Amino acid sequence: MKRATGRKERTVKKREGKTIPGGRQKKKAWAGRFRQETAPEVERFTESISFDQRLYRQDILGSIAHARMLARQEILPAADAKLIEKGLREIAGEIQAGRFRFSSQLEDIHMNIEARLIEKIGDVGGKLHTARSRNDQVALDMRLYLREVIDEVRGQLLRLYEVLLDRAEETMEVLLPGYTHLQKAQPVRLAHHLMAYYQMFSRDGERLSQLRDRVDVMPLGAGAIAGSGYPVDPSFVAELLGFSRTAPNSMDAVSDRDFAIEFCFAASVILLHLSRWSEELILWSSEAFGFVELADAYCTGSSMMPQKKNPDVLELIRGKAGSVYGDLQALLVLMKGLPLTYQRDMQEDKVPLFHAVDTVQACLSVFSVLLESVRFQEDRMRGEVEQGFLNATDLADHLVRKGIPFRQAHEVAGRAVRHCLDQGKRLEDLTRPEWTTLAPGVKPDVTRILGIEQVVEARDIQGGTARRQDRKQLRQARGDVQRRRNRLVKDQTRPEQIHL
Ligand code: ARG
Repeated sequence: MKRATGRKERTVKKREGKTIPGGRQKKKAWAGRFRQETAPEVERFTESISFDQRLYRQDILGSIAHARMLARQEILPAADAKLIEKGLREIAGEIQAGRFRFSSQLEDIHMNIEARLIEKIGDVGGKLHTARSRNDQVALDMRLYLREVIDEVRGQLLRLYEVLLDRAEETMEVLLPGYTHLQKAQPVRLAHHLMAYYQMFSRDGERLSQLRDRVDVMPLGAGAIAGSGYPVDPSFVAELLGFSRTAPNSMDAVSDRDFAIEFCFAASVILLHLSRWSEELILWSSEAFGFVELADAYCTGSSMMPQKKNPDVLELIRGKAGSVYGDLQALLVLMKGLPLTYQRDMQEDKVPLFHAVDTVQACLSVFSVLLESVRFQEDRMRGEVEQGFLNATDLADHLVRKGIPFRQAHEVAGRAVRHCLDQGKRLEDLTRPEWTTLAPGVKPDVTRILGIEQVVEARDIQGGTARRQDRKQLRQARGDVQRRRNRLVKDQTRPEQIHL
């Protein structure tokens, strides 16, 4: 026992590390208060450079804006700000060229860039962090980053809308069974079916535009928590970076991650829609349905069964959706127990956020090209829509028009279906005597309203399957897409004044 304790103490001592002067470590920006160097294990554990280096561009843009503002407010000599900006631009070049050595000893992207700046331009580089904390800095980087990502995803959605609406236009005359409970229900136009997905993704685009407005807030000036005692000018920084407003509360500015959570939610719903559609296309591509033929280029084979052509891309989209819900869950749980304001836990927000960004972008992009190449098997759809009594509701509706209450009409039509099932017939094949017994009062001309085309055309109300209605829906969708495209172009040509 005694010996064990002794050994433990020795180990602890050894691990206490070296004192700062003469250490092999890169000097930490916060080293002043410390007597010892950080344990290497702690450096490895606390670093975020391995994943937040993705934010280098945003970090540099934010720093240039900050330096220009400091000079304008006479907190920093103009010549210093110029030198800082020049150094930062060179660093951006080094990173882009892959010549920058990221160090985990410098923790994160902010300190990696700042240390390199000081290395390049000397002590003047040490003035950049005046009136700023990494807490407001990282909030700014994340907002700049998400603003761009949101616009990229909006662009990808526009691409999907286009493919989708083109396919809807070309399949306006194709009819197929619509399903409820995965049982044949009523016939629909393929265009109608496709445009149901348009409506889902259209809401997704709207959600992203709304989120963009909430992301569009410039947090610098909040400092670590309480704002700044220097006469900083956040509005000027906002103007330089093309933000429409500044954060109204410093504590909220450094500790709010709602926007990251909202992005993961928006991504989750996009993945939900992609996953449902993928699942449907997987079913449709099976031999049992045979409604679509997927292009070979978007399928893979089996290592054992030579005959196989598998819809793996669609299956992976369906599978990846789950991991994005995980990202959303991770962020919600990450934030739920944090008192104000910044806590280091929040560094962990980036891993799920970046994963959600990468996943939603990859899925959207591959799905759009896959959809473009899908071959709809129109004959097969037609065959299936003719079988299965998809016109039974219309028979009941016909009886209602003859004055029979709907409940009785439903019963009579149900009996007619039962009879047809026994006889191996379709409703439209019933003879005059059969009609007389099954549904007295129904004339054989009923067959006119039982044709699949007529059934589809009968639903001539907004949102219905009549050609007129689907054409209208398509026209409106094309108009929406055009308006969205214009808005995106406007959003992307922000009046930001700093470019790298
Ligand atoms: N790497 C940190 C993050 O991403 C930056 C902010 C750190 N602030 C601090 N006081 N330790 O959250």
